[in-house]
Amino acid sequence: MTAPGRVSYGGGMKRFDNKVVLVTGAASGIGRAAVERIASEGGRLLCVDVVEDALVASAQRAGDVGGEGIAHPCDVSRVAQCQKAVAACLEHFGRLDALVNMAGILRMGHTAEFPPEQWQRVLDVNLSGTFYMCQAALPALLESKGNIVNAASAISFRTTPYAAAYAASKGGVLSLSRMLAVEYGPRGLRVNAVAPGSIDTPMSVPPGLPEDADYKLLQRSMALTGQAGPEVIAAAIAYLASDDARHVNGEHILIDGAATA
Ligand SMILES: NC(=O)c1ccc[n+]([C@@H]2O[C@H](COP(=O)([O-])OP(=O)(O)OC[C@H]3O[C@@H](n4cnc5c(N)ncnc54)[C@H](O)[C@@H]3O)[C@@H](O)[C@H]2O)c1
Repeated sequence: MTAPGRVSYGGGMKRFDNKVVLVTGAASGIGRAAVERIASEGGRLLCVDVVEDALVASAQRAGDVGGEGIAHPCDVSRVAQCQKAVAACLEHFGRLDALVNMAGILRMGHTAEFPPEQWQRVLDVNLSGTFYMCQAALPALLESKGNIVNAASAISFRTTPYAAAYAASKGGVLSLSRMLAVEYGPRGLRVNAVAPGSIDTPMSVPPGLPEDADYKLLQRSMALTGQAGPEVIAAAIAYLASDDARHVNGEHILIDGAATA
């Protein structure tokens, strides 16, 4: 028997039954793995990305594994498109329980020669995009007493070279997540972050890595047991977005195979 106030998952109950989750960056890597994991636990998902074909495939996969997925193309660096994505979610599903912000880009290069427009684009997508999505989703999430899971990075704690804009954006995402947790925690909203180390996705082969890169410096961020797949991060996202984490707020989960230990 379950004590009062405790949650039981007996009787085939899945953690995302009757829950609606919006995932950005849903067409690839960690976002796609999060869609699959949450759908396999009964979730209904609005899948957001700029790459339309792969986005449709992710949404279909959600249906194949026991949930439901709707593809909604959206560039998270555009505030109006973020507002439209949340509106589409509410129109289709009638509610929003969790926002998972995984859309991101990585551009590398020597800092002295790094083009200002690339600096701006990385901040626009990774940091401003996360902010725009959080802001657009806040009213619905406050109503559902829902939660947000943002994509920070191990680089938010111990950085790698040649990634100035990316490191700055991921430090910002972690700080923004904590700030929102404190500002809205009293009203029942939770905001947490995952902080992956190097994970085997298309992002781990970024454009711009200098030919003369110092591999000793780059290896500082490598896991002791090699690269893991995106499903290890999806498992942590599903935990943070679920009621299992109902007392976890303003936190991050660092998943880097002891690279920063
Ligand atoms: N892979 C890693 O090693 C790693 C490590 C730490 C943090 N992260 C973070 O995890 C998140 C997911 O990364 P990933 O490894 O799955 O990368 P990925 O490249 O496989 O997926 C990122 C997705 O974001 C989408 N995207 C890019 N710009 C967008 C925009 N403006 N609007 C909407 N969607 C956009 C891409 O189309 C892509 O589908 C990112 O925020 C990344 O910074 C990844």
